[in-house]
Amino acid sequence: MDNQQWATQVLSKIELKVDQELQRLGDQIPYMAVDGRYTDMGVKDTTWWTNGFWSGILWQLYHATGKPIYKETAQKNEERLDQAFLDFKGLHHDVGFMWLHTAVANYRLTQNPKSLQRGLHAAELLAGRYNPRGQFIRSWNRDRAGWVIIDSMLNIPLLYWAQEALDDPRFGFIAEDHADKVMNNIVRADGSVAHIGVFDPQDGTLLETLGGQGYGVGSSWSRGQAWAIYGFALSYRHTHKAAYLDTAKKVANYFIANIQKTGYIPVSDFRAPQTPVKVDTSAATCAACGFLEIARHVPENERPLYEEAAVNILKAIVEKHVDWRTETDGIVLDATPAYHEEETVQTPIIYSDYYFIEAILRLLNQNFLIW
Ligand code: GLY
Repeated sequence: MDNQQWATQVLSKIELKVDQELQRLGDQIPYMAVDGRYTDMGVKDTTWWTNGFWSGILWQLYHATGKPIYKETAQKNEERLDQAFLDFKGLHHDVGFMWLHTAVANYRLTQNPKSLQRGLHAAELLAGRYNPRGQFIRSWNRDRAGWVIIDSMLNIPLLYWAQEALDDPRFGFIAEDHADKVMNNIVRADGSVAHIGVFDPQDGTLLETLGGQGYGVGSSWSRGQAWAIYGFALSYRHTHKAAYLDTAKKVANYFIANIQKTGYIPVSDFRAPQTPVKVDTSAATCAACGFLEIARHVPENERPLYEEAAVNILKAIVEKHVDWRTETDGIVLDATPAYHEEETVQTPIIYSDYYFIEAILRLLNQNFLIW
C-alpha cells in the first residue's frame, strides 16, 4: 500500500469516528477526553486556548468532504466563542489558536462577513499585546509583561492573515518583529528551543529563559520544539524571509535526530531524565505538519528527509497511539500537556487530533491553510 492509499484509509476511519463524536457533542467544545468522554470546555472556560481546535477539525473535514454537519457545528462553536470576547480579561496571545480555527477558517471557506469581523477583532487584540520598545508580543497576563512563549509562533499567523484582509502592513511588521525576537533569543544554536523567554519589558533585553511546560531550565520541551518547527515554517510561507525557513529546518533536524531514537514518537522533553518515560503525541502530530510545510519550500533533494519523517510519525501514531472505537471520544492517545502535570500524562487531547487530521489531509493534498 502506498502512502496515499494508506492515508485514504486512515481518513475514512477519522470520518467515522468524528461523525460519532459529533452526535455525542452537539455544540459542545471538547478539550481532553477523560474515561473516553469529552466534557464542554466552552462552559468551564470560554477563553481556554484550545477552544478552536475542534472547529479546526470540522472545517478541515468540511473542506475535504463538503458534509454540511461539519460546517453547521463549527459555526455554532464560533458563535459560542463570542462570549470569550466579552470575557476579555481572560484573553491572552492564544487568540490566534482560538479564532484562526473558527472565524478565519469560516471566512476563508464561506466569506461570512460576521466571521471576518470576529477574525479582525481577534487580530486587533493580538496586535494590542505588542511591546514597541521590546519588539515582542507579550504572551500571558498578570505580572508577566516581558514573558514570551514559543507557542506564540502558531498565533502570529492571525496577524499575517489580518495584514492581507485589511491590506495593512502594520500587522505583518508586528508579526515579523515578534518572530525575529523569538528566533534570536529563544531558539538555541544547537536547534533546541526554550519554552519561555523573559524579556525586560522596558527595552526587550533577554533576562532569562525558563523551562515552562518542559522539564526545567535549559531543557527541550518537545511540543515547544514542534511549535517552533511549524511556526517558523509558516512565518516563512507568509514572509519569504529565508532566516525563518533556516530556523524551521534547524529545529526540525534536531527534532528528527531525537525522535529517531524513540520510534518517531517524542518524549515530552528531550532533555528530561530517561525515566519516567512520558511521551507526547501532540508534539509528534504538530511536528509532522511542520515537516510537510517545510517540504513545500526546500529544494527537491531535501524534501524526502522531511516527508519521510512526517510519514514515519503518522504511521507510528496509527500503529500504537490511536483509538478507533466509535463509542469513545478522542482519536490520538498519549498527549502530555506539561512534563510536571502528573494528573494528565499521556491522555487524548483535541489538538493532538487536530494536527493528526491536518497532517493526513496534507498527505492527500486535501487540507486548506488555516494558519
Ligand atoms: N500552548 C500551550 C500548550 O502548548 O500547552
